[in-house]
Amino acid sequence: MSGHGAAQPMTSAPCGPLTGTADVPGDKSISHRSFILGALCVGETRITGLLEGQDVLDTGRAMQAFGAQVIQHGAGDWSVHGVGVGGFGEPENIIDCGNSGTGVRLIMGAMATTPITATFTGDASLNGRPMGRVTDPMALFGAQAFGRAGGRLPMTIVGARDAVGVEYTVPMPSAQVKSAVLLAALNARGETRVIEREATRDHTERMLAGFGADIAVEDTGKDRVITLQGQPDLQPQTIAVPRDPSSAAFPVCAALIVEGSDVLVPGIGLNPTRAGLFTTLREMGADLTYENERVEGGEPVADLRARFSPDMKGIAVPPARAASMIDEYPILSIVAAFAEGVTDMQGVKELRVKESDRIDAMAKGLRAAGVTVDEGEDWWKITGMGPKGVPGGATAEARLDHRIAMSFLILGMGAQQAMAVDDAGPIATSFPIFQGLMGALGADLRPLDG
Ligand code: S3P
Repeated sequence: MSGHGAAQPMTSAPCGPLTGTADVPGDKSISHRSFILGALCVGETRITGLLEGQDVLDTGRAMQAFGAQVIQHGAGDWSVHGVGVGGFGEPENIIDCGNSGTGVRLIMGAMATTPITATFTGDASLNGRPMGRVTDPMALFGAQAFGRAGGRLPMTIVGARDAVGVEYTVPMPSAQVKSAVLLAALNARGETRVIEREATRDHTERMLAGFGADIAVEDTGKDRVITLQGQPDLQPQTIAVPRDPSSAAFPVCAALIVEGSDVLVPGIGLNPTRAGLFTTLREMGADLTYENERVEGGEPVADLRARFSPDMKGIAVPPARAASMIDEYPILSIVAAFAEGVTDMQGVKELRVKESDRIDAMAKGLRAAGVTVDEGEDWWKITGMGPKGVPGGATAEARLDHRIAMSFLILGMGAQQAMAVDDAGPIATSFPIFQGLMGALGADLRPLDG
C-alpha cells in the first residue's frame, strides 16, 4: 500500500441512488492522540472505536519502539500500557511513520524533551513535507534536529535534557505544530504558553485535560492562548473514539451529487473545530440534516442525513473557516463541480503542504474531468457545471494522497462517465473500509488490472 506495494488503480462508474447507513471508522486525529497520550501515562489506557488505518497503526508501532506496550483485543479495541511523561526509551531502529504527518510531528514533539535520540522516516509523500515547522519550536526546548535539505525526513532528533517551558506563537494554522509543542511541554519544567492566531482542531487540549494535565485555554478575542504546566502525572483513561467527520464527508458528499440518494451517517463528531464542511454544504443548499444531536465523551455528536441536492449553488467559503475544514477542500471541490456557479476558496495555502499539493492535484484531475478550475498560491475557484453536467471520463493521479483518491472516486459516481484513479492504495491510511462501505450504499467501484 501507500508508497510501498504496487499501485492499485481503481475506477468508479456512474451509479444509481446511494441509499442506506454508512458506519464510518473512528476519528484519525483522536486515534493518534489516544496511542500517544496512552504511552505517556503509567498504567493501562483502554481505547474502543480506534481507527485501524495504516497511519494510526504506524503510530502504535512507534509507541512500542519507545517502550509502551500496545495490544489489540478485537476490532477497534486496544490498550496501551504507557511509560509515563519522560519515560520514553531510545528506539532500537528507525521509526517509519509511513504516510502520516500527524504521526511523525506529534511523536517528534512527544520525544523532543527526553534525552534520547530517534530517527524518523516515511514514504515518498511524507519525506517531501516540511518538518521545520516542528523542529523550530523543538529547538526552543533545546532539542536538535538533523534532517535533509529544507527540513525534510529522514531526520534525527536529539532530545533535550532538563528542558524548561517556552512561549511559542504558532506561525501557521496547524494543529500538528500546536500539538507537538504541547506534547514536548509535558516533560519540560514549569509553564509553556502556546499562542494560536487562528483556532485549529483542539483534540490535544481536550484530551490532555481528560488525562489530568493542568491545561487552560483562553480566548483573548484576538488569539487563543493555551497554558500547560509541565511534568504532570498523566492518568490512564478509557477512550471511546468518535467517528471521523473527515471520513463522513465522503459518503455525505456522494449522496449530495448522485440522483435519488438518501444516506444516513450515524454518530459523527461535530466538534466546531472540525465541522466547517457541513456548515459550508448547508450554505450551498445541500439537503444535509443533523439528527439525534447529543453529547458523547464531551464532544457534540449527531447522525448526518444527506440526500441528493440538485439545487446547490457555489459560494465564497469564508477564509476564517478554513482550519475547521482543512482536510475537506478536496471533496468540497467535487461537490462544487456539481453545483451551479462559482465556489471560491481563499486563504488555503496550507493545502499545498498536505500529503500532496492538494490544490494542484485536484485542479489537474478536475480539469481532466472537464471542470474549469482557477488557482493561485493560496486560493482556488471551481466553476460548477450543475447536477448532471460533469463529464468525468478521465484518470486522476492520487499522488500517495488518500483524500485525493477518494475525492475522484466520488466524482465518478455522479459524472456522465466513469472516473479512475491511478492508485487507490493510499485510502487504507485513513479509511480502509471505503470501497466496501461505498459499494454497500450502491457505488460501482472496481479495481483495474495493472
Ligand atoms: C491534524 C491536523 C491537520 C490535518 C491533519 C490532522 C491533526 O494538519 O490536516 O489531517 O490531527 O492534528 P495541520 O496541522 O498540518 O493543519
